[in-house]
Order: sequence, then structure tokens, then C-alpha cells
Amino acid sequence: MEETATIRLGNENYDFPVVTGTENEKGIDIRTLRQKTGYITFDDGYGNTGSCESRITFIDGEKGILRYRGYPIEQLAESSNFLESAYLIIYGELPTHAQSRDFSTKVLRQASIHESMRHLFEGFPNNSHPMAILSALLNSLGCYYPNLATNDRDNDLKYFDEAAVLLLSKVRTIAAMSYRMMRGLPLMYPRKDLGYCQNFLHMMFSEPYDDYYPHDDIAKALDLIFLLHADHEQNCSTSTVRMVASGGANLFASVAAGVCALWGPLHGGANMAVIQMLQEIHKSGDDGSKFVQAAKTGKGARLMGFGHRVYKNYDPRAKILKAACERVLKALGRNDPLLDIAQHLEDKALHDPYFIDRKLYPNVDFYSGIILQAIGLPLDMYTVMFSIGRMPGWIAHWREVAEFSKGRIHRPRQVYIGPALRNYVNINERDAAGSA
Ligand code: ACO
Repeated sequence: MEETATIRLGNENYDFPVVTGTENEKGIDIRTLRQKTGYITFDDGYGNTGSCESRITFIDGEKGILRYRGYPIEQLAESSNFLESAYLIIYGELPTHAQSRDFSTKVLRQASIHESMRHLFEGFPNNSHPMAILSALLNSLGCYYPNLATNDRDNDLKYFDEAAVLLLSKVRTIAAMSYRMMRGLPLMYPRKDLGYCQNFLHMMFSEPYDDYYPHDDIAKALDLIFLLHADHEQNCSTSTVRMVASGGANLFASVAAGVCALWGPLHGGANMAVIQMLQEIHKSGDDGSKFVQAAKTGKGARLMGFGHRVYKNYDPRAKILKAACERVLKALGRNDPLLDIAQHLEDKALHDPYFIDRKLYPNVDFYSGIILQAIGLPLDMYTVMFSIGRMPGWIAHWREVAEFSKGRIHRPRQVYIGPALRNYVNINERDAAGSA
């Protein structure tokens, strides 16, 4: 028998179908609720609301499971690489040799940006945040490639493959150029003999008179960071991308909005906040014990890189990054006091009833910043790195909306709690009433 859920309002019972996902997760399909009852659901922060059906990523936050298109993140981290996983996320299947070669070649060919885009960088003040630049420049791609960004769904889907590789490639060029422009460094053009991450590191750190060749472990660690960030179902930035896409906006505009949503410290900005927190703790001479106490009061800063809306267990990405962090620092022969503090913080928190009761565990941002620091990236580029990594997810979700949403715009409702009806008062009467 079909499973249903019954809602009782006054003396009336209303039945709603239960929907079941691939992994047996259950939802009550309330799409006819308002039409049948006049009521809506109220779910501040959407913690209980499924906004769509999606085929891309599965998370079980209680068990600490993350899978892209069915593949466990641990297996992808071990055996795949960022571009291959990006292909998987965007197209649903792992590529064959031929598909993989074709995809990498197309990404490589799109690496340079239109020369006149350089002037856009020049227009920004020197102290601009690279996330603001990234969002603006990604959106501007629609002006340089208007045939890919028409806001006509059928047309934009027709050119989707081209737009997808263009974005995957140019996002890293734009990121590297913003870094160099802001520092007054000469821009470095991409090279055709380098892979995805090597090319990015080359555009960041080479000089016209001195090529930069990253340590193998550095390029691998960056690739791993990108892969682990590649998608995370309906998070704040991805939901933003889907929301913008639902209005029919093109891929470039939609991901530019995703960058803005990612910027905040409760989301992608947390990797930067973690390092700032660890540096503060280090400077104060604390080993993390005092900070953990303060984080519990609600008055001090939060323990950044801890807690997650969905994971009520160890974030599987954090486990992988913790091991990678130790591996990279060892390979580079570095001893980072921030890693010691992070490990101590983690140990303290995981044994503290406050964190245990609230199921607060390290999330992806807790260890990624230490690796980014070892790579030599400045703090303000950390969330930009997250954006490069998240690009495949945003692209895949844009396509899912464009292909499957049957044109319905995303439009939540609200419970209005403002003033009831009142009549307009002339400004002279308002002044008179104020001075009375
Ligand atoms: N440190 C201390 N206490 C915390 C923390 C933290 N990092 N996170 C949550 N809590 C506490 C809250 O104060 C609250 O306590 P209470 O029940 O006594 O009021 C309880 O745990 C539940 O917290 P919420 O804020 O309601 O949880 P929510 O699901 O809304 O927020 C979030 C999740 C934003 C990630 C939160 O845990 C947080 O701010 N973490 C730090 C920032 C961070 O690392 N963000 C990155 C998330 S991963 C990502 O976006 C890539």
C-alpha cells in the first residue's frame, strides 16, 4: 500500500503521499497542502524542507556519508582526480579514456580569458576582496560569450557543454589574475603543458623570469581540496545557484550568485575564519583549551570549522583532509604550530559534553586552511579556492534545474508578522504628531 502522511487541521484530516529516495530517505510531499488547506509550512532555515529531487549527491549526515553520483567520497579521493570527478558530477558517469581526454583538452583550451577582461581587473581598487572580483568577472563572461548566456533555456542548454568547460577553466584563470592584479604583479598566461592544478599554481606563482614548479604533493593536495569541495547537495550557495537558475538566468549569472552566497563566514568563508582563529589562539599563547571553553558560552567566537547543518557526525571530507594535512606538511618538511593547535582543539571539543550533546564535529573547513597555507596561498584567496572546487556542483545543479524543473520558478512563501492594515498619514501630520 502507498505510504501516506495525515495532517489534522481542526476536524479535517488531509492525506499526503510519502516520497522515498534511492537511499530510503523519506519526505512528505506537501505540494498540494496550500491548495487543499490554505496553510503553508513554516521552516526557518529550511532544515526540514526538501526543495527538489536531485540525482547528483547523496549525504547521510547522521552516518557521515557523502557520495557523488553514488560513488563514496573516500574512493574518489583515493583513486580519482578533480577533473574526472567534475565530469562525473556534471554528466552522471565516470568518463572513458576518450571522454576524459576530450574533456581535459577542452578545459585546457579555454584557459585564457578575453584580453579586454584585463581592464575589468584594473577598475577594482587594490584592496578589493577577490570573491567580489570573482563574482563580477564570472557574471561578465555572459557579455563576452553572449551566445552561451541568452537566458533562453533551450538555447543555453544547447550550448551547455561549451559553457561548462569554459567556466571550469576560466574560474581558475580569473582567480589567479585577481591575486596578481591586486598585488601589482605581471599577469601570467596559462601554459598548454600543465595540468589543471599545476596551471593554476603557475598562473599564481610564476614570474616572467622565473617559472614556478610546484612540489608534486602540493599540486596533489590542491587537486584533493578541489575534489572534496566539488559538490555538497543543497547547501547555501548551491541552493542560491538553483534559485537564480529557476528564474531562467543563464549559467554564468547563476554561478556568480553562488560565489556571493559562498562568501559568508558561516559557509565558504569559514576556511579563512578557521586560520584567523588558529592564529589568534597561537598569538595569545593558548593551546586551544581556553578557546574551547569560550566557544561554549555563546559570548566568545564560535569554534570555526566545527558544526554542520547536515553532518551530525564527523564530516567525511574533514577526515580525508586531516590525513592529507599531516601528509603534506611531512612531505614539505614543515612543522606548523597551527596544526598542533587544531588537533588539540579537535581533541578537546570531541571530549567535551557541550560539543558531544550538540553533535558538533570538524567540518571540511577545519583542516583545509592549513593545507592552503602550506601551499602558500594568502588568506583572502581561501574562499576563492572553495569556489573553484564547487564549480562542477554549481554547473551540474544549474543543468538539473534547467532540464528537470519544468520551468517552475522557486518562490517560497512566508508568515507575515509586520503591522496589520493601516492608513497612509500625510508627512505634515506625521511631523505634527512627532513634535506633539
Ligand atoms: N561552536 C560553538 N557552538 C556551536 C558551533 C560552533 N562552531 N556550531 C553550532 N554551535 C551550537 C550553537 O550555538 C547552538 O547551540 P544552542 O543549541 O545552545 O543554541 C547549537 O550548536 C546548534 O547550532 P546552530 O547554529 O543552530 O546550527 P546550524 O545548523 O544552524 O549551523 C553552522 C550550522 C552554521 C555550520 C554552525 O555550526 C557554525 O556556525 N559553525 C561554524 C562556522 C563553520 O564552520 N561553517 C562552515 C560550515 S561547512 C560549509 O559551509 C562548507
